[in-house]
Amino acid sequence: MVAHILDGKKIADSMLRSVKREVATMKRKGVIPKLVVIQVGNDPASTIYVNRKHKTCIELGMKSEVRRFPSSVSYGRILGEIRELNEDKTVHGILVQLPLPEHLNHKKVLETVAISKDVDGLHPYNHGRNLLAKSGMRPATPTGIITLLESTGAKLEGKNAVVVGRSNIVGKPVAVMLLNKGCTVTICHSKTTDLGRFTKDADIIVCAVGKPNLIKGPMVKKGAIVIDVGISRLKDGKLSGDVDFKEVSKRASWITPVPGGVGPMTIASLMCNTIAACRDIEWPQKSG
Ligand code: GUN
Repeated sequence: MVAHILDGKKIADSMLRSVKREVATMKRKGVIPKLVVIQVGNDPASTIYVNRKHKTCIELGMKSEVRRFPSSVSYGRILGEIRELNEDKTVHGILVQLPLPEHLNHKKVLETVAISKDVDGLHPYNHGRNLLAKSGMRPATPTGIITLLESTGAKLEGKNAVVVGRSNIVGKPVAVMLLNKGCTVTICHSKTTDLGRFTKDADIIVCAVGKPNLIKGPMVKKGAIVIDVGISRLKDGKLSGDVDFKEVSKRASWITPVPGGVGPMTIASLMCNTIAACRDIEWPQKSG
């Protein structure tokens, strides 16, 4: 078996085209969706992600602002900044790029973002709505993963899904989303003994740990759908996912490439969340 490639770039481009059309309609009605990203410190990977988000907003005709702060910024300053953005009617989405420096208590920072502007879906309230299968902002990467899985045409209900990684950004929320789709979900993580024992039985594997080539061919059931969220830079400068693509693509039915799989879907899902946050506001003609 040779796996079909789950082309995240292609699906994301089509989503972005549709967002662009909606932005144009919103503009005609007098509202321009605006995203503000807060970056603290100068982690090179974060800078790449933040710049990509900014560039995409601009390409879609949206407004975008990146507010950068040194890692020494005080906790009070960041909270003050977020509170100000919460009140600003021209801002529809607020995203605090993670990771934050230790001293900033990222949980409290994320809790300060207004629920209606939480386009990252990382506020505890939005995590809770996901858990309860209620509508609300969902984190971008897990949303992108579900869209990719659904694009295969496979029925998710009744499938055994193994999620490797238990982060609040990807592992936990995607596990909940798969559960809500009717999958039987197992969450594996760094303390799991014999990872292969679980992955071998999985119809769907989502791996989000950032360990190059962790998932090898023999760990994957024939015909499984494999989603690789990891992206690591190897010593030779090449990018690698968490999945040994060469081995696993001989067994899987579908597999995401790295790059060009989950990454573009994350950005596209964030853009969808931002216009959704803008759709929910009071429009000028409604009050006029
Ligand atoms: N850092 C890496 N991925 C993400 C993400 O999806 N959201 C935020 N806020 N930070 C990130």
